[in-house]
Amino acid sequence: MANIPSGNRDSFGSKFGVIAAAAGSAVGLGNIWRFPLVTTQNGGGAFLILYISFIVFIGIPVMLSEFSIGRRAQLNAFGSFKKLAPKTPWYLVGFLGILTAFAILSFYSAVAGWTLEYLVQAISGKLLHTDDYVKNFADFSTDVYRPLIWQMVFMFLTAIVVYAGVKKGIEKFTKILMPVLVILIGVVVVRSVSLPGAAEGIKYLFVPDWSAVNFKTVLMALGQAAFSLSIGMGTLITYGSYIQKDNHLLRTSSQVALADTSIAILSSLMVIPAIFAFSSVSIDQMSPGPGLVFEVLPAVFKAMPGGVIFAVVFFFLLAVAALTSTISVLEVVVAYLKEELGMTRGKATIIASVSISVLGVLATLSFSSLSGFHIFGLNIFDLLNFASANIMLTFGALFIVVFVGWKLGKSNFLDEISNKGEIKSVLHKIVFFIIRYIAPVAIGIIAVAALFIKGLT
Ligand code: PHE
Repeated sequence: MANIPSGNRDSFGSKFGVIAAAAGSAVGLGNIWRFPLVTTQNGGGAFLILYISFIVFIGIPVMLSEFSIGRRAQLNAFGSFKKLAPKTPWYLVGFLGILTAFAILSFYSAVAGWTLEYLVQAISGKLLHTDDYVKNFADFSTDVYRPLIWQMVFMFLTAIVVYAGVKKGIEKFTKILMPVLVILIGVVVVRSVSLPGAAEGIKYLFVPDWSAVNFKTVLMALGQAAFSLSIGMGTLITYGSYIQKDNHLLRTSSQVALADTSIAILSSLMVIPAIFAFSSVSIDQMSPGPGLVFEVLPAVFKAMPGGVIFAVVFFFLLAVAALTSTISVLEVVVAYLKEELGMTRGKATIIASVSISVLGVLATLSFSSLSGFHIFGLNIFDLLNFASANIMLTFGALFIVVFVGWKLGKSNFLDEISNKGEIKSVLHKIVFFIIRYIAPVAIGIIAVAALFIKGLT
């Protein structure tokens, strides 16, 4: 089907709407579940310095590349490459993004579903009346039906928002949910840092331990930055195509990166001091799986005065953070089906969410009926997680910067991010230099290394 002319496209209505949607995509399970653990286990402040450098010098340039591709082409991730580089195989990068969306959403929606189960357990009181939280999680995750039902509920919620459209769905919901998320995180942070013994946790989090930094740590920091900013799979190309022509893209990218990083740090302040105050579990021993959020934190809430309320708030905010991310991933596929295959938004949403759910079922069942099924030594959940976050996203980000640096080219890129010369900034040229020379080398190293080092990002 022919590409839909830009005039008919849905778009974000306001600058805050753009930030809410893009920051909503960036802030997710990666910030709250993964970042605190990865940071504390990899040198605390030292990791943080590396991480922030990658956000600034690699993350923002990649984000800006994606926004500029999408806004210039006014199309979905696949169509954008086809339009900007006609008769070349660059559209395959867009196609890789669609595949990545399938892979990410299938395991991410499984975890997002768990947050709903825990929210309900927290509300009903069951959660804080448990003694063995490892068993509680094992009982739930090895059940065949309950995790599946919650995953489907989560996919349904995601589909409703996406079905409602860019302005009336994604923008409207993220504009409400993101401020709510920030307030709720703030509430839990205040509680957590005021607990007795919290200072130890804060120290552990921020004091740099440079002896923990090695090549793998550096690679992990870059991988975490990419996953956390939602770069490398066309989410931000798709959202970029909905951004108004007068938007200052560099400023927007910086604001989104700042929001994402602040929330990652706040999440650490929410989680780590509380664990130090109430848990006997050593953070160094924890594996970056469900352990922290679903096994350790419930015990922390149980020990904490007023813990019921904080448990409810925590699992609610986790679900909200996950939802504003899942809608951005589903939108990648929906925009593709709509514009490339000529489907209506309704039909595209149903087809995308149902087909992703089928893959999602396999991810969820890898904890129960399919637990014995392994490919390359990994169950389906771990395989989808590893392949998408470690390999597909990093290669995606690599191809995107190479595309902008070497194919789209300097004048087109500068024309797009300066709004046809209206915005004058020396930073624009510096960012292009990074996109053309520095980012491909840095991301290239991680992309190749990710193939060899298991459990990297
Ligand atoms: N950035 C999200 C998080 O941190 C995950 C995500 C990755 C979302 C890629 C969209 C695309 O949880």
